[in-house]
Amino acid sequence: MADDQTPVRRAVSRLERPGGQAAPELADYATAIKAMRQLASDDPRSLVYQAAIHGKSGQRTSDHPDWDRCQHQSWFFLPWHRMYLREFEKIVCALLGKPSWRLPYWDYTADSSLSESDRWSVPREFLDPPNQRLNPLFVNGRARTSLKKEEREWESAMASPLFATSSGTTLGSGFGGGAVESPEQFATAPTGLLEGQPHNTVHRIVGGMMGSPFLAGLDPLFWLHHATIDRLWEVWLQQSGRTNPTVTPWLDTEFTFPTAAGEPVTMKVSAVLDIRSMGYAYDDTTPPTAPPRTELRAVGLERAVPALSTEEALGAEVIGATDRHVRLDPGATFAVGLERPAAWGLTRGLRRSLAPEEGMELETLATEAAMEGQVFLQLENVRGMEPAVGVFAIYINVPAGEDPADHPELRAGLFSTFGLEGASAQGHGMTQAFNITDVARRLYQEGRWDATNVSVTLAAQAAVDEREPSVNDVTVDRIAVYVEPPR
Ligand code: C2O
Repeated sequence: MADDQTPVRRAVSRLERPGGQAAPELADYATAIKAMRQLASDDPRSLVYQAAIHGKSGQRTSDHPDWDRCQHQSWFFLPWHRMYLREFEKIVCALLGKPSWRLPYWDYTADSSLSESDRWSVPREFLDPPNQRLNPLFVNGRARTSLKKEEREWESAMASPLFATSSGTTLGSGFGGGAVESPEQFATAPTGLLEGQPHNTVHRIVGGMMGSPFLAGLDPLFWLHHATIDRLWEVWLQQSGRTNPTVTPWLDTEFTFPTAAGEPVTMKVSAVLDIRSMGYAYDDTTPPTAPPRTELRAVGLERAVPALSTEEALGAEVIGATDRHVRLDPGATFAVGLERPAAWGLTRGLRRSLAPEEGMELETLATEAAMEGQVFLQLENVRGMEPAVGVFAIYINVPAGEDPADHPELRAGLFSTFGLEGASAQGHGMTQAFNITDVARRLYQEGRWDATNVSVTLAAQAAVDEREPSVNDVTVDRIAVYVEPPR
């Protein structure tokens, strides 16, 4: 980075804190936030106005042209938030009179920020110091100020080779979200893997204002969380074979933001794909070392599934699903059997070309396809009011009578209800996939994987506030297991 002058967004944990004082970048940030709080709420530079650009009205998109514009549950999630963050950053620079100030990012993905208690803490500048009641970076009502290891899980999003799932598919394992034709605050596409975890999770774990899209921007921590998410997009691109979408419905879509200078600016997605040209860079975009995948060679399937590259092949296919909608009950755990559905879509090509000749059971084919490819569990059309439980942990095949919390090796991931109300008001709710390849392979090796009978247990991971867990009506239309053929 020595060879150019692009100002850099730095990890909070690497900021210098001379004499144990607050990092100067964050002291500046506090100064700017204080000023933004004092501006009139109809001033686009005010914190209230900036937060309203993300979300304000709670149920329906408001008529104000600048408000309720955040993009969730589609492939516009990453570019929209990038634009939003950069314009916010420019306002901070203008208020400070420091054009090269850049947002630090909350680096909960770095192992080095692991504290002794095995938690990743909210940077201390954002906590309420006992002797200084008016810290502008502190807000009341955060439910938690640290993340457990599994709550900042980001590696499975990184492992996804595709940015977007194609338009029209309901199966969603893309890094950046599903394709949609046009922008919508809470779109119909599957949630991108990065948006699901750690993005949504961190929102709901921190809770308070961070727990709702209609308030989140009021917590100064929001902007550092999104700098992390924006950085992870750059990190993902550093891995081999990763590219952004190259199709015009994505590249040519435009969004408009009010600016520090007063005149609104309109940007195409294609204009925000090179961050240096936007005026910033990150101190570090090193990709993670991929955790070793569980290898099945030692076990030896009866035979390899034939290459799935025939003409009718083959995207992701459902190998099992629930046949009716179920309720997510806060505080309780329950199991969902994946019955053998009549409507299995299992590898149509395989079924036609192989199964009849070899007399092979579809169940066996399902298992082989699963073990050769990537296996995902997907919650489809989750709807409801935002419950007191902010985050559900999802487990596979927990032995009867045992506590899921004792089986981290069976955890599929975390489902967070961030944005659930907005998505439900649109009718379709939220859809999110979890990569369970390793869990499935481990179970297979232990002789405990049956593609026709997977049990799913949902447990409360975290409460978003102090409310008593109460009866609520969060429902899931379908829980599906699907397989992506090997690439
Ligand atoms: Cu638009 Cu972190 O949310």
